[in-house]
Amino acid sequence: MNVPLDEAQFISILLKVMNAKKTLEIGVFTGYSLLTTALAIPSDGKVTAIDVNKEAYETGLPFIQKAGVEHKIDFIHGDALSALNDLVDAKHEESFDYAFVDAEKENFIKYHEVLLKLVKKGGIIAYDNTLWAGSVAMSEEDEIEDIIRPKRKHAIEFNTYIANDTHVESTILSVGDGVTLCRRL
Ligand SMILES: C[S@@+](CC[C@H](N)C(=O)[O-])C[C@H]1O[C@@H](n2cnc3c(N)ncnc32)[C@H](O)[C@@H]1O
Repeated sequence: MNVPLDEAQFISILLKVMNAKKTLEIGVFTGYSLLTTALAIPSDGKVTAIDVNKEAYETGLPFIQKAGVEHKIDFIHGDALSALNDLVDAKHEESFDYAFVDAEKENFIKYHEVLLKLVKKGGIIAYDNTLWAGSVAMSEEDEIEDIIRPKRKHAIEFNTYIANDTHVESTILSVGDGVTLCRRL
């Protein structure tokens, strides 16, 4: 479930180059990409991290504590879409430098709509798994594993949506399972 090492290294450098300070993590699991982010931002930076699975977050928490970055993390236990809407209601609009989205793929378009309100102009929204094991480039007739096929549809739909979204400049990087970077215009 965690991002691979090359993707984590890429995220770390990206955050440092951007001087990101206030970030969002949507889909934490045991917190590998969260730990990467917390280590990359300055000591007074904050990651608001959201997941429905508190047990998984608590499994990884000792590593976050050992790394000395727990103070940079606000963990929200709950559904990401409602937590993001709560942040909008709490007047956090246009305040985040960066967001990393790695929760359920079928809601990426809904996340994007709210994140456009929360992330600053010039900020980055990154989406994981947008190449979906390379299957987005295959045709229906190709042999696609049963485990890959159902979410391939969502990935293609999301990639098409982003390619046509005039609120962002975007690119898909072939790092890990594919990472889409959207720069808010
Ligand atoms: C692929 S894992 C995240 C891995 C993590 N980003 C990393 O690389 O270390 C996806 C996570 O999204 C969470 N998730 C799925 N649907 C969610 C939702 N609606 N709201 C919040 N979290 C959700 C799951 O509980 C799971 O822990």
